[in-house]
Amino acid sequence: MQTSRPQQFVAVFDFGAQYGQLIARRVRDLNVYSEMVPCDISADELAAMAPAAIILSGGPASVYADDAPDMDGRIFELGVPILGFCYGQQIMAVKLGGKVGHTEKGEYGPAELCRCGESRILAGTPGSQTVWMSHRDAVSDVPAGFSVTSTTETCPIASMEDASRRFYATQFHPEVRHTACGQAMLENFLFGICGLGRSWTMDNIIDEKVAEIREQVGGRKVILALSGGVDSSVVAALVHRAIGDQLTCVFVNHGLLRKGEPEMVEEVFREQFNVPLVHVHAEERYLRLLAGVSDPEQKRRLIGGEFWKVFFEEAQKIGDVEMLAQGTIYPDIIESGARKTGGKASTIKSHHNLIPFPEGVRFDLIEPLDHFFKDEVRALGIALGLPAKMVWRQPFPGPGLAIRIIGEVTSEKLDMLREADAVVREELDAYNGRLFEETGDRNSEHSCWQYFAVLPDIRSVGVMGDERTYARPVIVRAVESSDAMTADWAKLPYEVLGKISSRIVGEVDGVNRVVYDVTPKPPATIEWE
Ligand code: XMP
Repeated sequence: MQTSRPQQFVAVFDFGAQYGQLIARRVRDLNVYSEMVPCDISADELAAMAPAAIILSGGPASVYADDAPDMDGRIFELGVPILGFCYGQQIMAVKLGGKVGHTEKGEYGPAELCRCGESRILAGTPGSQTVWMSHRDAVSDVPAGFSVTSTTETCPIASMEDASRRFYATQFHPEVRHTACGQAMLENFLFGICGLGRSWTMDNIIDEKVAEIREQVGGRKVILALSGGVDSSVVAALVHRAIGDQLTCVFVNHGLLRKGEPEMVEEVFREQFNVPLVHVHAEERYLRLLAGVSDPEQKRRLIGGEFWKVFFEEAQKIGDVEMLAQGTIYPDIIESGARKTGGKASTIKSHHNLIPFPEGVRFDLIEPLDHFFKDEVRALGIALGLPAKMVWRQPFPGPGLAIRIIGEVTSEKLDMLREADAVVREELDAYNGRLFEETGDRNSEHSCWQYFAVLPDIRSVGVMGDERTYARPVIVRAVESSDAMTADWAKLPYEVLGKISSRIVGEVDGVNRVVYDVTPKPPATIEWE
């Protein structure tokens, strides 16, 4: 079921993947709702979405190249204010009758910008200022009606505008931090020129979403699979705020969560929020299912498949449920490529949340977070009253500890790993906290983003007291990353590693050795299975 976008909406045309996202973020940082649209969207489709403003992103192509990304020129006739950056300036020029020239000498990095003449975009910024350039081509002739508003040494048309039609463009990139007054320029456009309000605030978002969910749901019953993860927890809190006891949360406890997690789900949702919660104790069922299985993919398949079986068994017990709430977020949609401009047929999480509905079972989906970035989901969670430790939970794989136990999963190994993992998290939470206090920021080399313990399927000899032991090692994995696509091992101080090691060996029965994984991704992955 499609959720509507807020009324004030800025459409960002993406002419090159890495640029559009950043612009959408910058606009949202100014409390204006913004979303990327494919650059080849037709004027009619776009008009149906009723954007209040349009921003054309940069991109690596040359406007005259055969395969250059194009846009529908009729979009310039919609009467909507448009701001273009870099490639966005060039395509605006070409579409409106100006010219773009190919220069031999590109301009990359910081450049000194000199203003000339009146400019509404540059209003309030200094006559001379630093901007960030990254281009070879540049506009050589502005279209009729435009004036040049700034230059740099190598770029005679560094910005241009036609205030009467509300078209503005810059060759430089206001969205990157290196452009000193970039945010002021965006503010000039959004607030001064387009007259938008700062309406994308958490309080407004909650009110808007609550009203929308109430309308979508009516008097129907909704069910939600609560995993203890950030997205499902925030959806649960939001949907519960909207429809109260019409929502039932089903928490399938597969016994593969970390220490304290099932208790936290109970405490937050049952005690604090008073949400009708079904806690399904499926721990034994999962142990039987996983007995003798050591292949990682087989573990993933079995765990995922069983989850939905258990979930739908419970749904049937509740009865009369017509809707399923899901924690799909905006990056899931972008990743799965499911977003189509006018609406979206299916925006189910592509990688791990594809729902295998049983024969004859159908629910209407509601996905109230499908327009949100991850950090916005977190902010929403905090605004809804979820505890910080739940909202800032590290990424944790759906198959849980099962893929951090190499080889067969048993209840003894789970206990051992859970205890060792709790020590790793306790020590590294404290370490990250100290580092943050000292530096006021995350330190990209030393701090860690995801950290946990892994239990390999081997034993080694040790000595404890007067006795030889033949027990298990624990692997500590701690990585620094921003998106899990690449990662580096965290350069932890020896004292921290030493303390983790002595605590694990001292506190966890059956462990006599601790090793640290010093492999980046690639070539390794973050998880061991
Ligand atoms: P890798 O191991 O591929 O992990 O470097 C990248 C990120 O994804 C998480 N991960 C998973 N998440 N189901 C999930 O929901 C999975 O099967 C899964 N496997 C890995 C991992 O924790 C890391 O953050």
